[in-house]
Amino acid sequence: MPNTNFPSDFIWGTATSSYQIEGAWNEDGRGPSIWDTFSRTPGKTFRGHTGDTACDHYHRYKEDVKLMENLGVDSYRFSIAWPRIFPEGKGQPRQEGIDFYNRLVDELLAANIKPALTLYHWDLPQALEDKDGWRNRDTSYRFSDFADQMFRSLDDRAAMWITLNEPLCSAYLGNLSGIHAPGLQDPQAAYSTLHHLMLAHGLALKNYRESYNSKPAGIALNIGTPRPAGSDQKDNDAVDLYLDPNARMFLDPIYGRGYPARYLEHLERQNVVLPVIDGDLDIISTAIDFLGLNYYFEFAVSSDDASPEGCKVVSTELPKTGMGWDIVPEGLLRQLRWVSKEYDNPTVYITENGAAFPDQLDGNGTVCHDSDRISYLEDHLQILEDAVKEGINLKGYFLWSFIDNFEWGFGYDKRFGLVYCDFKSQKRVPKDSFYFYKDYMAKIKS
Ligand code: FCB
Repeated sequence: MPNTNFPSDFIWGTATSSYQIEGAWNEDGRGPSIWDTFSRTPGKTFRGHTGDTACDHYHRYKEDVKLMENLGVDSYRFSIAWPRIFPEGKGQPRQEGIDFYNRLVDELLAANIKPALTLYHWDLPQALEDKDGWRNRDTSYRFSDFADQMFRSLDDRAAMWITLNEPLCSAYLGNLSGIHAPGLQDPQAAYSTLHHLMLAHGLALKNYRESYNSKPAGIALNIGTPRPAGSDQKDNDAVDLYLDPNARMFLDPIYGRGYPARYLEHLERQNVVLPVIDGDLDIISTAIDFLGLNYYFEFAVSSDDASPEGCKVVSTELPKTGMGWDIVPEGLLRQLRWVSKEYDNPTVYITENGAAFPDQLDGNGTVCHDSDRISYLEDHLQILEDAVKEGINLKGYFLWSFIDNFEWGFGYDKRFGLVYCDFKSQKRVPKDSFYFYKDYMAKIKS
């Protein structure tokens, strides 16, 4: 039974992103994004799945907003597809693209749901990738232009702005492991991307402060705050080393500390240069109103003298989700405590949390009994209560995801939704977890 430790203005929400749900990949003048290209490249996604149709949300947004209204969320976090607004990444904005988001935002407001808008959830216009994408500093300025256009069009009705989603994934999965678009395996590309994303965030935010500044604005990060695998002091040191590329490289510049010197030296030894120029760090440290944290799991790390990074992730015997990710609710509390302590108790939203499980429809396709997801949620929601109780400045929670969707390299094989999506018929079936979350929120508000 939830208690009432949550402040009355705590925001309960759910989240999606454009490429993962919209479909309509070539409609109303939308240009291709790096995910269209990547998903069409053989071997890159599960069975060659693409986001061409996804949940067809572009056409079914009204039905989806009705479901959200029934769910009873205060807010819906979604992202804007840059290539719908600027098919070439820049130039003249396309009114058809803007109008889709106008319709969606109006529909949400009519249902009393606050739009929480993310400006970049990984679907970079391919035209910009053709000019070196985030490796090229120019892309940061193009992002700021795109953001400005969206502020102009939607700031009157937006509830909050999130500049970027998980720049860590864009930088490292897109350019180091290559399992995300654009699929490079090049450390220099990864760190040029990282810095240009941080610069893009800062430029957009600075402009927002100067010209709009009516709503809370921040960024959504996934940071790695691991626990030591063993009790050895070397494992504690390994945790500290791991924090550099996986947390401090993002948080430190945002909070005005610049990039962590120790890690810059490490990069230098690897002949990797962070392309920072004078003034960039001031821009990147433009104050955020809140920090968004996407939390799914926690790693355990130990020291590793054989790797240049000095640390490695070790596998555990803990129960796992359908992604193979460890289920560690207390890791969320540890992360919140670490952030609060290190960065002076900032306002935090959990901008994503949830789990994939191999859900199936039952009862002639009318129900989905996802008890695994319910227990995952129960345990993580309990952590939110604990965090609020001990004074962590947590102001909201967005459950990932509203609906099953295109899970990047895993295509439609992994289901994260509160709503089951039959991708063939596009039928939506609320899962048991949908009703669980609905009741949970209702009890808190009653
Ligand atoms: C996060 C992404 C989101 C979704 C979840 C499962 O890393 O931001 O789009 O794929 O993982």
